[in-house]
This record gives sequence, structure tokens and C-alpha cells, in this order.
Amino acid sequence: MKNIILEFKKKYEEKTPISVITCYDYTFARLFAQTEIDAILVGDSMGNVIQGHGSTIPVTLDDIIYHTKAVCKGAPEKLVIADMPFLSYQVSVEEGIRAAGRIMKETTADCVKLEGDSELVLTLTRRLTEMGVPVFAHLGLTPQSVHTLGGHRVQGKTPETRNRMIQKSKELSEAGAFAIVLEMIPESLGKDITDAITIPTIGIGAGRYSSGQVLVMQDLLGLNESFNPKFLKKYVDLSASVRQAVSEYHMEVVARSFPGEGNVF
Ligand code: KIV
Repeated sequence: MKNIILEFKKKYEEKTPISVITCYDYTFARLFAQTEIDAILVGDSMGNVIQGHGSTIPVTLDDIIYHTKAVCKGAPEKLVIADMPFLSYQVSVEEGIRAAGRIMKETTADCVKLEGDSELVLTLTRRLTEMGVPVFAHLGLTPQSVHTLGGHRVQGKTPETRNRMIQKSKELSEAGAFAIVLEMIPESLGKDITDAITIPTIGIGAGRYSSGQVLVMQDLLGLNESFNPKFLKKYVDLSASVRQAVSEYHMEVVARSFPGEGNVF
């Protein structure tokens, strides 16, 4: 039995920065399992990067369970966080408990992630934690609320929204959340929240002072050429490599140079 929630907490206590990457399938999970990455998030960002939607809203609980199973198979020793998709927990605490319960029973994920700071989310965080389901919170730009937030814009820029986010981070921590994703907020707010609470903050576009960072795998691997937000660093240009490999394959098929002598039975 992996005990990685405790390892995660230990890293935080030792002030070692925590690295998180998203993943949605077995093949990449196996590769990530061979790295030192600290945790894998099966994010509802799959709505954008896997399913081709314009948002995370269409993602279903069945989608999350399907992809989480594949990721857990590929990276059985890593901490796997499964996102709770839109409408799997917003209707009532009971529905949220059932949805989280399905994720925990049908996959080997270690915890679930919930967006927002509503009373329902706070209560659900408390109830799930009491039941033994670790909860990752998510504040700042919460993509499931993209319509009310008016698009993908930096959050927490006014003194009111800033103070509110600090307060809500404390409440989520007190409700039992064991970590909080902070998305697209000013660096100074990321630092203030990180200083104000005693659980790890995992930033994406939240500056340099969070306890750790998370990036979407397609973004950091350079698989999405048209996505270039300021917070993103592309560590490799896989788009070019993939195009190059597929073009070469095509040309060799057309030229009858593939399969070659060494590829036949
Ligand atoms: O769904 C997701 O991938 C996320 C990260 C961007 C934090 O929530």
C-alpha cells in the first residue's frame, strides 16, 4: 500500500518544493512513473487537451474514472489526484460524497480535487476528510466557473478578492483539505496564502512562492503550439518532433522503404 499522502506532507514540512503534472493515460503515466515527479493530477483539463472542448465543463464522472484507472495502472507508486468534474458535486453534499466515493472505489486514486470555496465545498471537504478521502482544494481561476469569472483571467487582483481568497484558503485548510491548487493569481497573493496556511499550495500561474507547481502535460511538453500563457514554460517542443516523425513515416510508406528488410517475418 503506497503511503504517499504522508510523503507529500513530509516534503511540505521539510520545505522541499513539490512537483505535480497532469496525465490522462497509461503510456504517459508509465513514463512519468520513471521520473521523480511528486504527484500526478488526472485533471478535468482533459476536456480541453484530450476531448477538444473549449472548457472543462463537458467532462463527466465516467470520463474521470476511465482516465484515472489508466493513469493509476501506469503509475501505481505515485500520488494520483482525481479531479471531481463539473456537476458531480455542485448539486448537494450527498451527490458529492457519492461521486468521490465512486472515484475512490473504482480507481486507485489517492485523493480527489474540488474547485471553489462555497459553503457546499467547505462542508464536502470536511465530510470527505472525515470519511477518509483526502481532498485537494482549488482556488483562484477555477475553470469550472469560467463563465462567471468572465474568462481565463488573473484572479484576486483587488483588495477584497485578495482578502477573501486568503480567508477561504484558511477555511478550506481548517475543513481538512490537505493541499490547495492556486491558479492564475498575483505572485504576492500566492505568497501571502502560502504563508497564511499550514498545508501545501500548488501553483499554476501563482508565482514562485507556492509550496509546489503543477502544469498540464501537453503544455509543458510543447504539444499545444497555440497555448502560450505567461505562466507556462515549455520544456520540449514535441509538436515538431511528432510532425517530423509522422511525415517521415508517411514518406517511407509511400517510397516503400518501410517496412524494411529488418521489419518483416
Ligand atoms: O484540470 C486540471 O488540469 C487542473 C490543473 C490546471 C490544476 O485543475
